[in-house]
Amino acid sequence: MAELLDMDRLCVRDTRHIILSELTMHVGRGEKVALVGESGCGKTMSIRTLLHMLPDDVSVTSGSLTFDGTDVLSLRSHQLRQELYSRVGFVAQNTSASLHPLLRISTQMTDFYLERHRGVRRSQAVEKAAGILRSLGMRDVERVLSSRPDQLSGGMRQRINIAIALMDDILLLVADEPTSALDAHVRRQIEEVYISLAERSCLAMLLVSHDLGFVRRMADRVYVMYAGKMVEEGLVDEIFSAPVHPYTRSLIALANVKYKNKDEDLAQLGGFVPVVGRESRSCAFASRCRYERADCMADVEYRRLSDTHYVRCWR
Ligand SMILES: Nc1ncnc2c1ncn2[C@@H]1O[C@H](COP(=O)(O)OP(=O)(O)O)[C@@H](O)[C@H]1O
Ligand code: SF4
Ligand SMILES: [Mg+2]
Repeated sequence: MAELLDMDRLCVRDTRHIILSELTMHVGRGEKVALVGESGCGKTMSIRTLLHMLPDDVSVTSGSLTFDGTDVLSLRSHQLRQELYSRVGFVAQNTSASLHPLLRISTQMTDFYLERHRGVRRSQAVEKAAGILRSLGMRDVERVLSSRPDQLSGGMRQRINIAIALMDDILLLVADEPTSALDAHVRRQIEEVYISLAERSCLAMLLVSHDLGFVRRMADRVYVMYAGKMVEEGLVDEIFSAPVHPYTRSLIALANVKYKNKDEDLAQLGGFVPVVGRESRSCAFASRCRYERADCMADVEYRRLSDTHYVRCWR
């Protein structure tokens, strides 16, 4: 069966540097997929590419991108709302900035929806918004709908952003670090909202997260990104129980998520992600990798370990 989302060998660059290199990623219908990697690896750019939201000086130079049969790269701006944004919901990284400070929540939840669904009355849209908020575990929904953002807690605002993304009957929910700016207590609550949504809906999800414990509970499959390239992908058990790439292994060791090869002495991950596109060695991880050898200078292919598990490393 065709994938819901299919990114194939995408190259993205600005006027001077390559930002994403031969990026291949797919999400099946109903599948929950996580994208992990340190800051600056290209996760947000990957999502902005999918959502047709690249900065002005950044463009796709090669590769293909289809969503539910639509060639996303060829969409014109007037087609995006109908062809893409009615089927892909998005929760941005800085969600407090994405709510208008002066407008009531009911207006913010229904305005775009009513623009896309001309025959629907506002009262029907508000009823739909209330139902979605209730389904995300929110009480006192009438008060919330008549409030402005500053009258609500961070956790409530976060739920509202998820609810806005769910107003259309979307096929894919994309969330960029949806819990990273929250304090620990609220973060746990919001993680539970995502986990419960993942368990009870056939919605596909693409989640960027630093929190590997959350990823392990949420995801069916995981992509690991480093310096603008995928370095490993696999089913969640393959990534957490048998990670292969030294970068994946270090991330998991740092996150203290236990995995099978406990006897191995994993180095702490020192150094920094090289500026994307400016690492001259073939393996961008070489400067931080304690297994580096002469082979690592040559082109490192993305190798298949099983039908679902791929890695970009010579070892
Ligand atoms: N507006 C931009 N123009 C050009 N390059 C950018 C822009 N924004 C980010 N980048 C570069 O793209 C790379 C990936 O950034 P990003 O996708 O934000 O990483 P992540 O989300 O993984 O932290 C970084 O090297 C960053 O410097
Ligand atoms: S290719 Fe070489 S430098 Fe790169 S991760 Fe593998 S062993 Fe380390
Ligand atoms: Mg980011």
